[in-house]
Amino acid sequence: MSGTGKKIAVLPGDGIGPEVMAEALKVLKAVETKHKVTFQCTTADVGGMAHDKHGTALPPKTLELCEKSDAILFGSVGGPKWDNLPSDQKVERAALLRLRKHFNLFANLRPAICYSELASASPLRADIVGNGFDILVIRELTSGIYFGRKGEEKDHAFDEMLYRRDEVERIAKVAFETARQRKGHVTCVDKSNVLQSSMFWRRIVNEVHRGYNDVALDHLYIDNATMQILRRPRDFDVMVTTNLFGDILSDEAAMMTGSIGMLASASINEKKFGMYEPAGGTAPDIAGKGIANPIAQILSAAMMLKHTFGMTAAHDDIAMAVRQALKDGYRTGDIMQQGKKQVGTKQMGDAIVARL
Ligand code: IPM
Ligand code: MN
Repeated sequence: MSGTGKKIAVLPGDGIGPEVMAEALKVLKAVETKHKVTFQCTTADVGGMAHDKHGTALPPKTLELCEKSDAILFGSVGGPKWDNLPSDQKVERAALLRLRKHFNLFANLRPAICYSELASASPLRADIVGNGFDILVIRELTSGIYFGRKGEEKDHAFDEMLYRRDEVERIAKVAFETARQRKGHVTCVDKSNVLQSSMFWRRIVNEVHRGYNDVALDHLYIDNATMQILRRPRDFDVMVTTNLFGDILSDEAAMMTGSIGMLASASINEKKFGMYEPAGGTAPDIAGKGIANPIAQILSAAMMLKHTFGMTAAHDDIAMAVRQALKDGYRTGDIMQQGKKQVGTKQMGDAIVARL
Protein backbone atom coordinates (compact mmCIF):
# COMPACT_ATOMS: atom_id res chain seq x y z
CA MET A 1 0.00 0.00 0.00
CA SER A 2 1.13 3.53 -0.65
CA GLY A 3 1.90 5.76 2.26
CA THR A 4 3.06 3.00 4.57
CA GLY A 5 6.64 4.19 4.09
CA LYS A 6 9.06 1.37 4.60
CA LYS A 7 12.11 2.72 6.43
CA ILE A 8 15.46 1.83 4.95
CA ALA A 9 18.82 2.66 6.54
CA VAL A 10 21.19 3.26 3.63
CA LEU A 11 24.87 2.75 4.51
CA PRO A 12 26.98 3.23 1.36
CA GLY A 13 30.38 2.97 3.09
CA ASP A 14 33.71 3.10 1.25
CA GLY A 15 35.23 2.58 -2.18
CA ILE A 16 32.67 1.88 -4.88
CA GLY A 17 29.92 1.64 -2.20
CA PRO A 18 28.46 5.12 -2.78
CA GLU A 19 28.52 4.80 -6.61
CA VAL A 20 26.73 1.50 -6.78
CA MET A 21 24.34 2.50 -3.99
CA ALA A 22 23.16 5.49 -6.06
CA GLU A 23 22.03 3.05 -8.76
CA ALA A 24 20.23 0.79 -6.30
CA LEU A 25 18.35 3.83 -4.96
CA LYS A 26 17.36 4.73 -8.50
CA VAL A 27 15.92 1.27 -8.95
CA LEU A 28 14.01 1.55 -5.65
CA LYS A 29 12.53 4.87 -6.87
CA ALA A 30 11.26 3.12 -9.98
CA VAL A 31 9.78 0.33 -7.83
CA GLU A 32 7.94 2.95 -5.74
CA THR A 33 6.08 4.17 -8.79
CA LYS A 34 5.42 0.77 -10.27
CA HIS A 35 4.40 -1.06 -7.09
CA LYS A 36 2.76 1.85 -5.26
CA VAL A 37 4.92 1.80 -2.15
CA THR A 38 7.04 4.45 -0.51
CA PHE A 39 10.52 3.93 0.81
CA GLN A 40 11.94 6.32 3.36
CA CYS A 41 15.65 6.05 2.68
CA THR A 42 18.02 7.67 5.18
CA THR A 43 21.76 7.62 4.60
CA ALA A 44 24.35 7.25 7.37
CA ASP A 45 28.11 6.85 7.74
CA VAL A 46 29.77 3.46 8.11
CA GLY A 47 33.18 1.88 7.62
CA GLY A 48 36.47 3.62 6.98
CA MET A 49 34.87 6.94 6.12
CA ALA A 50 32.97 6.82 9.42
CA HIS A 51 36.18 5.96 11.23
CA ASP A 52 37.80 9.06 9.71
CA LYS A 53 34.88 11.34 10.53
CA HIS A 54 33.77 9.99 13.90
CA GLY A 55 36.61 7.80 15.16
CA THR A 56 34.56 4.60 14.82
CA ALA A 57 33.44 2.45 11.90
CA LEU A 58 29.94 2.16 13.37
CA PRO A 59 28.97 5.50 14.95
CA PRO A 60 26.14 5.40 17.54
CA LYS A 61 23.97 7.56 15.28
CA THR A 62 24.26 5.01 12.50
CA LEU A 63 23.33 2.17 14.81
CA GLU A 64 20.36 4.19 16.08
CA LEU A 65 19.16 4.79 12.54
CA CYS A 66 19.41 1.05 11.81
CA GLU A 67 17.39 0.28 14.94
CA LYS A 68 14.62 2.62 13.84
CA SER A 69 14.56 1.19 10.31
CA ASP A 70 12.86 -1.84 8.77
CA ALA A 71 15.96 -2.93 6.86
CA ILE A 72 19.57 -1.99 6.20
CA LEU A 73 20.86 -1.56 2.68
CA PHE A 74 24.61 -1.82 3.01
CA GLY A 75 27.32 -0.91 0.49
CA SER A 76 30.77 -2.10 1.43
CA VAL A 77 33.46 -1.11 3.91
CA GLY A 78 37.23 -1.10 4.18
CA GLY A 79 40.20 -0.41 1.97
CA PRO A 80 43.99 -0.07 2.09
CA LYS A 81 43.77 3.22 3.98
CA TRP A 82 42.37 1.42 7.03
CA ASP A 83 44.19 -1.90 6.78
CA ASN A 84 46.62 -1.10 9.57
CA LEU A 85 44.12 -0.20 12.28
CA PRO A 86 44.39 -2.25 15.51
CA SER A 87 42.44 -5.52 15.29
CA ASP A 88 39.48 -4.35 17.44
CA GLN A 89 39.04 -1.24 15.29
CA LYS A 90 39.34 -3.00 11.93
CA VAL A 91 36.42 -1.62 9.97
CA GLU A 92 35.13 -5.02 8.80
CA ARG A 93 34.98 -6.28 12.35
CA ALA A 94 33.85 -3.04 13.95
CA ALA A 95 31.07 -2.43 11.44
CA LEU A 96 30.03 -5.71 9.83
CA LEU A 97 30.47 -8.24 12.62
CA ARG A 98 28.92 -5.85 15.15
CA LEU A 99 25.86 -5.26 12.99
CA ARG A 100 25.42 -8.99 12.41
CA LYS A 101 25.58 -9.73 16.12
CA HIS A 102 23.60 -6.70 17.26
CA PHE A 103 20.63 -7.55 15.06
CA ASN A 104 21.03 -11.31 15.43
CA LEU A 105 21.30 -11.74 11.65
CA PHE A 106 21.89 -15.48 11.85
CA ALA A 107 20.81 -16.49 8.35
CA ASN A 108 23.08 -15.39 5.55
CA LEU A 109 21.79 -16.14 2.06
CA ARG A 110 24.43 -15.97 -0.66
CA PRO A 111 23.12 -16.83 -4.11
CA ALA A 112 25.76 -17.80 -6.68
CA ILE A 113 23.87 -17.59 -9.92
CA CYS A 114 25.65 -18.10 -13.21
CA TYR A 115 23.24 -16.68 -15.79
CA SER A 116 23.24 -18.33 -19.20
CA GLU A 117 23.96 -14.89 -20.72
CA LEU A 118 27.23 -14.81 -18.79
CA ALA A 119 28.11 -18.50 -18.78
CA SER A 120 31.26 -17.84 -20.78
CA ALA A 121 32.52 -15.50 -18.03
CA SER A 122 32.79 -18.44 -15.64
CA PRO A 123 36.32 -19.79 -15.15
CA LEU A 124 34.82 -23.29 -15.32
CA ARG A 125 34.86 -25.35 -18.51
CA ALA A 126 31.87 -24.78 -20.79
CA ASP A 127 30.71 -28.41 -20.53
CA ILE A 128 30.63 -28.10 -16.74
CA VAL A 129 28.74 -24.78 -16.72
CA GLY A 130 26.23 -25.76 -19.40
CA ASN A 131 23.40 -23.23 -19.32
CA GLY A 132 24.52 -21.91 -15.99
CA PHE A 133 23.84 -22.85 -12.38
CA ASP A 134 22.04 -21.50 -9.35
CA ILE A 135 23.51 -22.37 -5.97
CA LEU A 136 22.30 -20.77 -2.75
CA VAL A 137 24.80 -20.94 0.09
CA ILE A 138 23.07 -20.48 3.43
CA ARG A 139 25.67 -19.58 6.00
CA GLU A 140 25.14 -19.46 9.76
CA LEU A 141 26.30 -15.94 10.59
CA THR A 142 26.21 -15.19 14.31
CA SER A 143 27.86 -18.13 16.01
CA GLY A 144 30.56 -20.76 15.50
CA ILE A 145 34.23 -19.91 15.45
CA TYR A 146 33.65 -16.24 14.60
CA PHE A 147 31.92 -15.56 17.88
CA GLY A 148 33.28 -18.23 20.23
CA ARG A 149 35.70 -17.56 23.09
CA LYS A 150 39.06 -16.52 21.80
CA GLY A 151 42.35 -15.67 23.39
CA GLU A 152 46.05 -15.36 23.04
CA GLU A 153 48.77 -16.11 25.58
CA LYS A 154 52.51 -15.98 25.25
CA ASP A 155 52.80 -19.39 23.63
CA HIS A 156 49.35 -20.15 22.26
CA ALA A 157 46.15 -18.72 20.84
CA PHE A 158 42.72 -20.24 20.34
CA ASP A 159 39.26 -19.73 18.80
CA GLU A 160 36.43 -21.86 20.09
CA MET A 161 33.88 -23.33 17.67
CA LEU A 162 30.65 -23.88 19.57
CA TYR A 163 27.12 -24.47 18.28
CA ARG A 164 23.98 -24.62 20.38
CA ARG A 165 21.03 -26.77 19.44
CA ASP A 166 18.70 -23.82 18.81
CA GLU A 167 21.29 -22.16 16.56
CA VAL A 168 21.51 -25.23 14.35
CA GLU A 169 17.77 -25.82 14.37
CA ARG A 170 16.87 -22.33 13.20
CA ILE A 171 19.36 -22.25 10.32
CA ALA A 172 18.33 -25.77 9.25
CA LYS A 173 14.70 -24.62 9.12
CA VAL A 174 15.64 -21.67 6.94
CA ALA A 175 17.48 -24.05 4.59
CA PHE A 176 14.58 -26.50 4.26
CA GLU A 177 11.97 -23.80 3.89
CA THR A 178 14.02 -22.00 1.26
CA ALA A 179 14.66 -25.23 -0.64
CA ARG A 180 10.90 -25.81 -0.78
CA GLN A 181 10.61 -22.62 -2.84
CA ARG A 182 13.41 -23.82 -5.14
CA LYS A 183 14.42 -27.29 -6.34
CA GLY A 184 13.76 -28.97 -2.99
CA HIS A 185 17.32 -30.13 -2.37
CA VAL A 186 19.52 -29.29 0.62
CA THR A 187 23.17 -30.24 0.96
CA CYS A 188 24.46 -30.00 4.52
CA VAL A 189 28.17 -29.19 4.63
CA ASP A 190 30.31 -29.90 7.69
CA LYS A 191 33.44 -31.64 8.94
CA SER A 192 31.79 -34.31 10.98
CA ASN A 193 34.56 -36.84 10.34
CA VAL A 194 36.71 -34.76 12.69
CA LEU A 195 34.92 -31.99 14.56
CA GLN A 196 32.60 -32.62 17.49
CA SER A 197 30.61 -29.47 16.72
CA SER A 198 30.09 -30.78 13.17
CA MET A 199 28.84 -34.18 14.36
CA PHE A 200 26.35 -32.30 16.50
CA TRP A 201 25.45 -29.97 13.60
CA ARG A 202 24.75 -32.89 11.27
CA ARG A 203 22.66 -34.74 13.85
CA ILE A 204 20.46 -31.69 14.47
CA VAL A 205 20.04 -31.02 10.74
CA ASN A 206 18.90 -34.63 10.31
CA GLU A 207 16.41 -34.21 13.16
CA VAL A 208 14.95 -31.01 11.70
CA HIS A 209 14.73 -32.74 8.33
CA ARG A 210 12.08 -35.12 9.75
CA GLY A 211 9.63 -32.23 9.47
CA TYR A 212 10.51 -31.66 5.81
CA ASN A 213 10.18 -35.01 4.10
CA ASP A 214 9.37 -33.35 0.80
CA VAL A 215 12.89 -31.89 0.71
CA ALA A 216 15.86 -34.08 -0.26
CA LEU A 217 18.82 -33.87 2.09
CA ASP A 218 22.38 -35.03 1.55
CA HIS A 219 25.66 -34.40 3.34
CA LEU A 220 29.16 -33.49 2.28
CA TYR A 221 32.35 -32.79 4.20
CA ILE A 222 33.58 -29.27 3.53
CA ASP A 223 36.76 -30.38 1.73
CA ASN A 224 34.78 -32.64 -0.59
CA ALA A 225 32.09 -29.95 -1.06
CA THR A 226 34.62 -27.40 -2.34
CA MET A 227 35.64 -29.99 -4.92
CA GLN A 228 32.17 -31.21 -5.91
CA ILE A 229 30.77 -27.75 -6.65
CA LEU A 230 33.60 -27.25 -9.15
CA ARG A 231 32.97 -30.63 -10.77
CA ARG A 232 29.19 -30.54 -10.97
CA PRO A 233 27.79 -27.12 -10.01
CA ARG A 234 24.43 -27.83 -11.68
CA ASP A 235 23.71 -30.65 -9.19
CA PHE A 236 23.41 -28.25 -6.25
CA ASP A 237 20.52 -26.19 -4.97
CA VAL A 238 20.69 -25.05 -1.32
CA MET A 239 23.86 -25.65 0.70
CA VAL A 240 23.64 -25.03 4.44
CA THR A 241 26.73 -24.70 6.57
CA THR A 242 28.53 -23.12 9.53
CA ASN A 243 29.89 -19.60 9.74
CA LEU A 244 33.50 -20.35 8.76
CA PHE A 245 32.78 -23.01 6.13
CA GLY A 246 30.10 -20.76 4.63
CA ASP A 247 32.57 -17.90 4.40
CA ILE A 248 34.89 -20.08 2.33
CA LEU A 249 32.29 -21.92 0.28
CA SER A 250 30.47 -18.72 -0.72
CA ASP A 251 33.64 -17.08 -2.03
CA GLU A 252 34.36 -20.15 -4.11
CA ALA A 253 30.81 -20.32 -5.46
CA ALA A 254 30.96 -16.58 -6.23
CA MET A 255 34.17 -16.96 -8.22
CA MET A 256 32.62 -19.81 -10.20
CA THR A 257 29.98 -17.45 -11.57
CA GLY A 258 32.82 -15.41 -13.06
CA SER A 259 31.62 -12.05 -11.83
CA ILE A 260 31.69 -11.07 -8.18
CA GLY A 261 30.11 -7.77 -9.25
CA MET A 262 26.82 -9.63 -9.74
CA LEU A 263 26.43 -11.25 -6.35
CA ALA A 264 23.95 -10.05 -3.76
CA SER A 265 23.46 -11.24 -0.20
CA ALA A 266 20.96 -11.12 2.62
CA SER A 267 21.56 -11.46 6.35
CA ILE A 268 18.30 -11.99 8.17
CA ASN A 269 17.04 -12.52 11.73
CA GLU A 270 13.97 -14.32 13.14
CA LYS A 271 11.81 -11.26 12.56
CA LYS A 272 12.92 -10.96 8.93
CA PHE A 273 14.77 -7.76 9.70
CA GLY A 274 17.78 -7.86 7.42
CA MET A 275 20.95 -6.32 6.16
CA TYR A 276 21.46 -6.53 2.42
CA GLU A 277 24.84 -6.13 0.78
CA PRO A 278 26.80 -7.02 -2.33
CA ALA A 279 29.53 -9.63 -1.97
CA GLY A 280 32.15 -7.82 -4.01
CA GLY A 281 33.77 -5.48 -1.50
CA THR A 282 34.96 -1.90 -1.93
CA ALA A 283 37.14 -2.45 -5.06
CA PRO A 284 39.48 0.46 -4.18
CA ASP A 285 41.30 0.11 -7.52
CA ILE A 286 38.26 1.29 -9.49
CA ALA A 287 36.52 3.48 -6.88
CA GLY A 288 35.45 6.94 -8.06
CA LYS A 289 35.79 6.08 -11.75
CA GLY A 290 32.14 5.39 -12.44
CA ILE A 291 32.86 1.98 -13.95
CA ALA A 292 31.89 -0.42 -11.12
CA ASN A 293 29.16 -2.97 -11.74
CA PRO A 294 26.06 -1.89 -9.77
CA ILE A 295 24.17 -5.17 -10.30
CA ALA A 296 25.15 -6.78 -6.99
CA GLN A 297 23.92 -3.73 -5.09
CA ILE A 298 20.72 -3.61 -7.13
CA LEU A 299 20.04 -7.32 -6.58
CA SER A 300 20.75 -6.85 -2.86
CA ALA A 301 18.01 -4.22 -2.79
CA ALA A 302 15.78 -6.72 -4.60
CA MET A 303 16.52 -9.35 -1.93
CA MET A 304 15.51 -6.79 0.70
CA LEU A 305 12.15 -6.31 -1.00
CA LYS A 306 11.56 -10.05 -1.03
CA HIS A 307 12.86 -11.17 2.35
CA THR A 308 12.07 -8.22 4.63
CA PHE A 309 9.11 -6.59 2.86
CA GLY A 310 7.55 -9.69 1.34
CA MET A 311 7.45 -7.97 -2.08
CA THR A 312 8.27 -11.02 -4.16
CA ALA A 313 6.79 -9.57 -7.35
CA ALA A 314 8.97 -6.47 -7.09
CA HIS A 315 12.01 -8.67 -6.47
CA ASP A 316 11.24 -10.73 -9.54
CA ASP A 317 10.71 -7.59 -11.61
CA ILE A 318 14.17 -6.30 -10.74
CA ALA A 319 15.79 -9.67 -11.39
CA MET A 320 14.06 -9.81 -14.80
CA ALA A 321 15.13 -6.25 -15.64
CA VAL A 322 18.73 -7.14 -14.81
CA ARG A 323 18.62 -10.21 -17.03
CA GLN A 324 17.00 -8.24 -19.83
CA ALA A 325 19.72 -5.57 -19.66
CA LEU A 326 22.30 -8.36 -19.93
CA LYS A 327 20.38 -9.99 -22.80
CA ASP A 328 20.34 -6.62 -24.56
CA GLY A 329 24.11 -6.58 -24.39
CA TYR A 330 24.84 -4.08 -21.62
CA ARG A 331 28.11 -4.89 -19.82
CA THR A 332 30.25 -3.14 -17.24
CA GLY A 333 34.00 -3.69 -17.59
CA ASP A 334 34.15 -6.66 -15.19
CA ILE A 335 31.76 -8.72 -17.32
CA MET A 336 32.64 -7.30 -20.73
CA GLN A 337 32.48 -9.77 -23.61
CA GLN A 338 33.26 -9.33 -27.28
CA GLY A 339 30.54 -7.66 -29.32
CA LYS A 340 28.68 -6.26 -26.29
CA LYS A 341 28.07 -2.65 -25.21
CA GLN A 342 30.50 -1.56 -22.52
CA VAL A 343 28.86 0.90 -20.14
CA GLY A 344 29.61 2.63 -16.85
CA THR A 345 27.88 2.33 -13.49
CA LYS A 346 25.22 4.96 -14.21
CA GLN A 347 24.35 3.68 -17.68
CA MET A 348 23.96 0.16 -16.35
CA GLY A 349 21.61 1.50 -13.65
CA ASP A 350 19.65 3.42 -16.29
CA ALA A 351 19.44 0.36 -18.56
CA ILE A 352 17.96 -1.67 -15.70
CA VAL A 353 15.49 1.07 -14.66
CA ALA A 354 14.36 1.37 -18.28
CA ARG A 355 13.48 -2.36 -18.29
CA LEU A 356 11.47 -2.33 -15.08
C1 IPM B 1 32.23 -11.89 4.41
C2 IPM B 1 33.54 -11.28 4.77
C3 IPM B 1 33.55 -11.07 6.28
C4 IPM B 1 33.45 -12.44 6.93
C5 IPM B 1 34.77 -10.31 6.82
C6 IPM B 1 34.99 -9.00 6.09
C7 IPM B 1 34.70 -10.09 8.30
O1 IPM B 1 34.60 -12.04 4.34
O2 IPM B 1 31.18 -11.27 4.63
O3 IPM B 1 32.24 -13.01 3.88
O4 IPM B 1 34.45 -13.15 7.10
O5 IPM B 1 32.33 -12.80 7.29
MN1 MN C 1 34.03 -13.81 3.19
